[in-house]
Amino acid sequence: MQQVNLGMIGGGTVGSGVFHALQLNGGLMASRIGVKVNVRKVAVKAFNEPRPYPISRSLMTTDWQSVVNDPQVDIVTELVGGTGIARTMVLTALKLGKPVVTANKALLSAHGEELFAAAKKYGTNLYYEASVCGGIPIIKSLREGFVGNRINALYGIVNGTCNYILTRMKLEGADFAAVLADAQKHGYAETPPDLDIDGHDAAHKIGILASLAHGFWVNPKKIHVEGIRQISALDIKFAGELGYTIKLLGIIKRIGGGCQVQVSVYPTLVPNAHVLASVNHVFNAVFVRGDIVGDTLFYGRGAGKDATASAVLSDLADAALDLKSGSKQRVPPFVPHECAGAVVPIENVVSQYFLRLNVVDRPGTLAKIAAIFGAAKIGISSVIQPEGHEGKSVPLIFMLHYATNGAVNGALKKIGRLPVVKGKPVMLRVENFE
Ligand code: NDP
Ligand code: HSE
Repeated sequence: MQQVNLGMIGGGTVGSGVFHALQLNGGLMASRIGVKVNVRKVAVKAFNEPRPYPISRSLMTTDWQSVVNDPQVDIVTELVGGTGIARTMVLTALKLGKPVVTANKALLSAHGEELFAAAKKYGTNLYYEASVCGGIPIIKSLREGFVGNRINALYGIVNGTCNYILTRMKLEGADFAAVLADAQKHGYAETPPDLDIDGHDAAHKIGILASLAHGFWVNPKKIHVEGIRQISALDIKFAGELGYTIKLLGIIKRIGGGCQVQVSVYPTLVPNAHVLASVNHVFNAVFVRGDIVGDTLFYGRGAGKDATASAVLSDLADAALDLKSGSKQRVPPFVPHECAGAVVPIENVVSQYFLRLNVVDRPGTLAKIAAIFGAAKIGISSVIQPEGHEGKSVPLIFMLHYATNGAVNGALKKIGRLPVVKGKPVMLRVENFE
């Protein structure tokens, strides 16, 4: 049987997961693809760091360059993370004509165009299935499975850490900080975890999916991003009373049937009857609407050592098959296509809204707020105010009809300045998947 030698950089959560999965299923994979992937070396930062799965000490080195430059190494994995040294590692391997497998969405978001260009220039390939949604094969699906479709909409729960936190806050009334600590213990969270909870990790992934789906490389600075830090138990409770569940949703939507696309990440009220509302804990899901296929759904673990290792193994199999067949860009990692699209600024995006204000319960309060919405031509679809708070401050919840984000933000600025409104209004968008 033909054999390819793997040089791994990174032996932490994902790296040790890959090492373990190859030990477990490397033989099976070889029997399926006719090539054996043999781990030749594993570069780490420090030998004695605790690892989720053990890695043979005889294979370990702290010198990543010796891995990349080893003439016996045919394929390199970058499972380190970040946009600094990882970029150098990937570029060094590509320049040597060696295919690279990475799980590093932050790196692809910041430097994807440069890295894909380098892969092409040096006649090799860059594989990145594990960079989005852990074990869900969404990259392959978008690139190959949906090659005959225009993607009209894609909605994704793409960050396991945030979904884990929001799920436990809703189901157990758990405290944000305690659940985040648990997510870190399970190896779900990024370093630092702000990347997860402020929505940036989800934005990296949604940018990659939007680029693949729409054929132009999405500038991460154009993606509107909001995280889950401001979500309180009160928002979860009132959303629940109205029949919704709050999820951090990545949204990619074609606007007006052309090349204008909404690309955004924000906490969203999802109707409880929609399948995405019941995607819980570390699970991710991606709902894709193609113009030919209609609606499709992908579901699986979005983070963690084993799920992510599964995606890396699938890339290793592709890389090994490409080496075997000698066609290194059989499936190019990213190809511009159709039209030079543009990301629509969030101010112009039309949504429905949930608003939570903290107001003084006195005559005229509601009228003043309603007048501001009326003047902005924003329709109110429902209002909740709990009884029994006369003269004191009370939560006041509005559901708003479709309006642009610009109009709602303008109205909220005025509402926030009313003396009867205490604290910063909370505005969340509602998605009905129409
Ligand atoms: P870890 O922090 O667990 O692992 C990072 C690894 O990189 C460690 O083994 C570390 O060595 C090694 N490393 C750091 N610097 C160097 C260096 N200079 N030379 C050699 N090795 C180095 O991170 P994860 O495994 O969680 O994440 C890796 C990548 O996978 C990231 O891009 C992440 O975003 C992505 N990812 C992570 C997922 C997850 O669930 N954790 C899921 C999907 C993608 P040492 O062990 O000695 O410290
Ligand atoms: N921190 C990421 C998450 C890891 O929680 O989804 C998987 O990409």
